[in-house]
Amino acid sequence: MQFTSKDLAEKYNRLAYWYDIVEGIPDTLGVRKLRRRLLEKASGEILEVAAGTGKNLPFYAARSGLIAVYVSDGMLDRARKRAGALSLRVLFSIMDAQALAFSDGSFDTVFSSLTVCTFPNPIRALQEMGRVCRPSGRVLLLEHGRSDCGWLGRWLTAGQKGMPSSSGATGTENRWSLSERPA
Ligand SMILES: C[S@@+](CC[C@H](N)C(=O)[O-])C[C@H]1O[C@@H](n2cnc3c(N)ncnc32)[C@H](O)[C@@H]1O
Repeated sequence: MQFTSKDLAEKYNRLAYWYDIVEGIPDTLGVRKLRRRLLEKASGEILEVAAGTGKNLPFYAARSGLIAVYVSDGMLDRARKRAGALSLRVLFSIMDAQALAFSDGSFDTVFSSLTVCTFPNPIRALQEMGRVCRPSGRVLLLEHGRSDCGWLGRWLTAGQKGMPSSSGATGTENRWSLSERPA
């Protein structure tokens, strides 16, 4: 099943209310810690791509020049409220991750979490993240995939069959990992 960016925006608008509740489970099981650890590496001017409801916002120390990019209004409203509660200065913008409206080399850090399996054209989105990152900067990605623990991997493979219709996501084949592209 293949979704367009517009389909996904509509889908995640509908999911906005439930997203934090459902994602609270993996966050409690360790994803929140991975978000925090990876964001400790973020510096300078930061772009977060597909920020969703702003689950990463608590891990940005008081910084300026943070821009969060997202495609869906419903989730962005939640992210705005979160930023307000944290007194963070964030410039939000609705934008397709596959066509970022920034010049080449605009940011020191480009960050995205749990998104690559959702983008209709993940290669294009990754190319865009690389393009808008400065040559001395870093692209930081928090992504997930299949466990190499036998029973768990099989369970995840079986479970991911229902994912495209519920979340727009497709499965990936590697385990939970932190990835970064050094300068
Ligand atoms: C699983 S959610 C992750 C949200 C957030 N990054 C987080 O860590 O909670 C995947 C997000 O990617 C967004 N998305 C999918 N395609 C997109 C696109 N082409 N441009 C921008 N965002 C997109 C979806 O709307 C969804 O909010």
